[in-house]
Amino acid sequence: MSVRLVDLTADDVHRWLGPALDVYVAAMNYPRGTQTHRTPLWRDHMNRPGWQAVGAVQSTVSTPVSPPATGGGDPPTLAGSTTETLIGIAYGYRGAEDQWWNQQLRAGLRLGGYTRTQIDDITRNYFELTELHVHPSMQGTGTGQRMLTRLLADRPEDSVLLSTPEVPGDDNRAWRLYRRLGFGDMLRHFGFTGDPRPFAVLGRRLPMN
Ligand SMILES: CC(C)(COP(=O)(O)OP(=O)(O)OC[C@H]1O[C@@H](n2cnc3c(N)ncnc32)[C@H](O)[C@@H]1OP(=O)(O)O)[C@@H](O)C(=O)NCCC(=O)NCCS
Repeated sequence: MSVRLVDLTADDVHRWLGPALDVYVAAMNYPRGTQTHRTPLWRDHMNRPGWQAVGAVQSTVSTPVSPPATGGGDPPTLAGSTTETLIGIAYGYRGAEDQWWNQQLRAGLRLGGYTRTQIDDITRNYFELTELHVHPSMQGTGTGQRMLTRLLADRPEDSVLLSTPEVPGDDNRAWRLYRRLGFGDMLRHFGFTGDPRPFAVLGRRLPMN
């Protein structure tokens, strides 16, 4: 079993979008059927400037059980078939003022006491990390970090920003990953319109190294 990273493109969206949404729903423990509502939104995101996506593909070789060779005929074979499964998805795009998330962020920063100049500086040239998910069966093996590192490796923006639900003690895999990679607090306990959960907005300068 091995996991390799692949760049996902708009041209092959028909191949990966369904499996990617399945990963997202499983990772976030959302109700089945959420995929249907999310499909148009994810497709819309693909048209935004600077959209980029990375997937993680698991290859599993299955070894068929061959009957023992009796006398003549072919010897038992160890050759099996390889199954490829998408088990991770990460994507984002360049932030812009006509985007809902950007408008929510600016309002949140205003409420959080940032000055107009600071808000302009923060939102002028950033990459929004929109989604980052690994299938629960494969979490905790470094795949999320690999995908995020690859996604951010050659970004031209000054910074990367993301939102993630608040959790007690900042202690789940997502938080540990973001902290390990140097993400700091931009906003805490922020409420996006229409979502009752408190969120943090985290960010860091680019490039990563
Ligand atoms: C958050 C998420 C994407 C992180 O991806 P992941 O592959 O599970 O985790 P990471 O890439 O950070 O891997 C770190 C873990 O792998 C382990 N690991 C094993 N080999 C590793 C390696 N070579 N490099 C780094 N970590 C490795 C680490 O010890 C660590 O374990 P720990 O978290 O138990 O301490 C994933 O857990 C997930 O989808 N969570 C649910 C959805 C979610 O919260 N998404 C983010 C919303 S903002």
